[in-house]
Amino acid sequence: MPLVSMRQLLDEAAKGGYGVGAFNVNDMEQIQAIMAAAKDTNSPVIIQASRGARSFAQDRFLFHLILAANELYPEIPIAMHQDHGNSFETCKSAIDLGYTSVMMDGSLKEDGKTPASFEENVAVTKRVVDFAHERGVTVEGEIGVLGGVEDGHGAGGTGLEHVTDPDQAVEFAEKTGVDALAIAIGTSHGAYKFTKKPDGSVLKMDVLIAIHKRLPNTHLVMHGSSSVPKDLQDVINKYGGKLKETWGVPVEEIQLGIRNGVRKVNVDTDNRLAMTGAIRKVLWETPEKFDPRDYMKPAREAMQKVVAQRMTQFGQAGHAGDYKAVSIIEIAKGYKDGSLKTKPLVAAK
Ligand code: 13P
Repeated sequence: MPLVSMRQLLDEAAKGGYGVGAFNVNDMEQIQAIMAAAKDTNSPVIIQASRGARSFAQDRFLFHLILAANELYPEIPIAMHQDHGNSFETCKSAIDLGYTSVMMDGSLKEDGKTPASFEENVAVTKRVVDFAHERGVTVEGEIGVLGGVEDGHGAGGTGLEHVTDPDQAVEFAEKTGVDALAIAIGTSHGAYKFTKKPDGSVLKMDVLIAIHKRLPNTHLVMHGSSSVPKDLQDVINKYGGKLKETWGVPVEEIQLGIRNGVRKVNVDTDNRLAMTGAIRKVLWETPEKFDPRDYMKPAREAMQKVVAQRMTQFGQAGHAGDYKAVSIIEIAKGYKDGSLKTKPLVAAK
């Protein structure tokens, strides 16, 4: 099947009441790990690349690796998504290349660091929506600002500085027409999210639930959703790493989110931890080894295990065969004739 529009994939997830993991990739082994996990669990997938990933791997390498995944696993719906686009031009370049979905992160200015005004965010996101929808491509926007920094992108901080205001979320969704909405509820990118198991004072699930009540038909996106499991931290530290004690987002909180409108769950750090732990173990235990395959194979297997576990926990497992991808040309027609408009967007009071 062709690459799937993320909108179709998320609409199906909403029908089935499950979430879909969006896993970041930079190289071949990570794509292989995701696809092996998707096959094992029979899951639809979102493969996403940040600007940093696109520049690290080079656009065309990464694009063709994902196309290879599509060719080798025709039974698995795959959406190819630009993570945290910082400008219209970045999103356009992904769309021109063939991505079926883009995130326009207008919560920050183009420098990817400074919080933008609401008006700036609406203007740039709407511009991307108009361009993308004409081509059948899905758009994720962001309202509120996440914490932390990922691949040089992010405002830093704890994630509590700019928690999403539900009224603004409604206004933003109405004014931009985004297909999916990333919200800030206290999570942040990277390994250091919380200094203890998070409770409602730092992880604002109440805000997420309030937004879902107002926007019941908008696909919500949870960024910074790695759980940073202790066992993965322990492997790294056992084999010479120096991670400080830290907590991520507990899977049960993500599952609560999924019951309240979260359809896309972004995970990168857990996979990085799994791969790094596996590589450290090989190099520590067998320092005489120097063939990259000796450590990349266990690294790929470690990531596959984490991804398969998340696919099961998010509920996407078992759903790969529920539908066939509609081409983005057909999706574009749906945006044009209004059939893909979400009605009603806002819940009646
Ligand atoms: P983590 O750092 O928690 O994996 O978040 C990744 C993410 O949100 C990518 O956009």
